[in-house]
Amino acid sequence: MTPPGPGLAVGDAVDVEVTAFAHGGHGVARHEGQVLFVRHAVPGERVLARVTEVGSGARFVRADAVEVLVPSADRVEPPCPWAGPGACGGCDLQHVSLAGQRRLKAGVVREQMARLAGLEVDVEVEPVPGDADGLDWRTRVEFAVDADGRAGLRRFRSHEVVPVDHCRIAAPGVDRLRVTDRSWAGSDAVDAVAPTAGEPVVVEVPGADVPDVVERVEATWEVPDGTVRFARDFTVSARGFWQVHPGAASTFLAAALGPLDVRPGERALDLYCGVGLFAAALSEAVGPRGQVVAVEADRDAVERAERDLAPAGNVVVVAGRVDDVFGVPRAERRRGRSRPRRAARSPLLPPAADVVVLDPPRTGAGTAVVRAVAAMRPRAVAYVACDPAALARDTAAFAAAGYRLDALRAFDAFPMTHHVECVAHFVPDAG
Ligand SMILES: C[S@@+](CC[C@H](N)C(=O)[O-])C[C@H]1O[C@@H](n2cnc3c(N)ncnc32)[C@H](O)[C@@H]1O
Repeated sequence: MTPPGPGLAVGDAVDVEVTAFAHGGHGVARHEGQVLFVRHAVPGERVLARVTEVGSGARFVRADAVEVLVPSADRVEPPCPWAGPGACGGCDLQHVSLAGQRRLKAGVVREQMARLAGLEVDVEVEPVPGDADGLDWRTRVEFAVDADGRAGLRRFRSHEVVPVDHCRIAAPGVDRLRVTDRSWAGSDAVDAVAPTAGEPVVVEVPGADVPDVVERVEATWEVPDGTVRFARDFTVSARGFWQVHPGAASTFLAAALGPLDVRPGERALDLYCGVGLFAAALSEAVGPRGQVVAVEADRDAVERAERDLAPAGNVVVVAGRVDDVFGVPRAERRRGRSRPRRAARSPLLPPAADVVVLDPPRTGAGTAVVRAVAAMRPRAVAYVACDPAALARDTAAFAAAGYRLDALRAFDAFPMTHHVECVAHFVPDAG
């Protein structure tokens, strides 16, 4: 729908009611036929919204709540002085109570599941164990560097660097590195990493030397036969993938593997395996008579997973994109290419699996991969998802392939931001 008049322009300020919360962390409001995505607002509030950007076709605009006219009961004073209109782009929800943030995120998960998967789900966003106030958790922070060599964090949807001297969501180990006190002339960015075991490190980008860090996982989960305990250290490149909340890896591992109740002798798949977090626990669960096939695209992660998991003797790590390894069309279409690229199915992939764990990036696994997973007829699938929209699309694909959503949990692994992590379980649909 096009707005009736010329519509709102950048700099305009309008008095609006915020009626909903959108995936991406914005309040939603309407003004004369236009939709406003309002940052720093809470549903139920009346705010003065100043337009910061006009969207394509002027059908929507982005805006900041610059004055709160009627506040929500969930509104709080942001703990960080750098959060707010025109300031740091890192956090979206510092102005909302932690309980309110979790209700908003649960609403997003419900809404995406209803819209994209046609499912009514009942879900709560649970805190990650050990997280008291949603602050001091982020173990990996990428600082941007300005032309004068000063490190800070980026302004929302901008390359501009805000001189944030103390990020309230950064882990204490990141703070101790005092990245913003030093000059980084010649660098584009600086990564600060405070792993769960060992000393924090700074990595300049670009830079030749990327150190390793050690991440510790200690997880416990219940299965019908008793309690499973898993404890292990993983060596990860300081620029490689690892969950950024210190409690997240252990929490997701327990949430994903508990309901799978993996048995000795079973065959398990760990897709998008990184350095092998799930594969390591699956390897212990299936034992010497079982087998784990792990798939990962990042070369460095593959080498680490191979080296660390080889002694178990029951893990095969396959290097490559999951869609290529399955021999299905790639999820994205390349410009100028009429048909999506397709590789031959890897001979290392077995024809069937008992259980499958998927932990894809934000784009999700995609229909072709979901279909290929379902074709292996696993008795259960655990899906760890950092984007509820991608999870909902893949849930619809699982349903079309004969698998129903059996359970869904959501975790507040990124407090103060709009991000939420889900762990879903699928089983064959008896109907
Ligand atoms: C969310 S991370 C999960 C990693 C691991 N499961 C963990 O918990 O540490 C997603 C992983 O998928 C890998 N990846 C991204 N796209 C991929 C693809 N198309 N095929 C295989 N791996 C991919 C990334 O390199 C990353 O290691």
